[in-house]
Amino acid sequence: MPRGITVRAFAKINLDLQVLGIRPDGYHELRTTFQSVALSDVLTFTKTRGPFRIECDDPAFPTDRSNLIWKAAERVLRLSRRRDIPAGVTVHVEKNIPMQSGLGGGSSDAAATLRALTLLWRVKVSDAELRHAAAALGADVPYFLEGGTALGFHRGDLVFPLADIAPAWVVIVVPEFGVSTKEAFAWWDAAHGLVRRDGQKGRGRREGQDGRDRLEGRSRRHEAGANDLQAVVAKRHPIVTKLVRTLTTHGAFHASLSGSGSAVFGLFRRRSVAQAAARLLSGPRTFVTPTLDRKRCRRLAAK
Ligand code: C5P
Repeated sequence: MPRGITVRAFAKINLDLQVLGIRPDGYHELRTTFQSVALSDVLTFTKTRGPFRIECDDPAFPTDRSNLIWKAAERVLRLSRRRDIPAGVTVHVEKNIPMQSGLGGGSSDAAATLRALTLLWRVKVSDAELRHAAAALGADVPYFLEGGTALGFHRGDLVFPLADIAPAWVVIVVPEFGVSTKEAFAWWDAAHGLVRRDGQKGRGRREGQDGRDRLEGRSRRHEAGANDLQAVVAKRHPIVTKLVRTLTTHGAFHASLSGSGSAVFGLFRRRSVAQAAARLLSGPRTFVTPTLDRKRCRRLAAK
């Protein structure tokens, strides 16, 4: 039986993201294209005595029960039909993916934990059970069991693998501020005349004609780029528009906000051009990283 397992949890970017409307459960109906990139957190699971522990050098990283790693551990135990609370494992997290950036770091850590702990604790689970557990942890988590290029529907949790895109270099710039996903969707609601009765989750109501809203949404999309959340995030944080423009001016063949931000990315054919653009935008949270196809993503995930 292994004493420990080290896994890589890769970040994602959203090549595009359409918000199609609000769902009865308060979430938003999406159509998005996910893409893995090589930027990753590294998680080491070691069998230890005593309670379940999460360790991280970054003091801003929560190490208590609120962390999705902890919740994923609870899910694995539930799947094993053992009802007890997680214990006997310390998880060390090398946190490289900035938090609240739209790069899916927390969700990727959760998916990596599901994979690692089913192995370490020898829990037999079907793919369907694992996907179900992933969706219960968060809308983006099922994608991270898949990797590569994939389409996400519903809350983003219904995932269909696509043929991988041609390899590209990605410049990712994460501004100093973070964006809460919940808040970004609330901004989208406000911009589209959607109100929630009594602020209650699951009570979304669309005001105005659906068809007209959609058409208007489409023309706005044309102006605002491939990500429907970009316009509402850029309205509060104009740096987003500036970053997208700079990346495009300096050779990106596609540039956009990722998820609900705050990260902005640009795709480049050539590494040298990507590096030159990154130098212009250099800062502690600027990354140059290749896209990862599904096969490499899976091979490299088991470090
Ligand atoms: O699923 P997750 O916890 O990552 O989502 C965070 C928040 O983002 C949700 O509570 C919800 O407010 C919002 N969200 C949404 N529609 C989605 C995904 C997330 O409204 N498809």
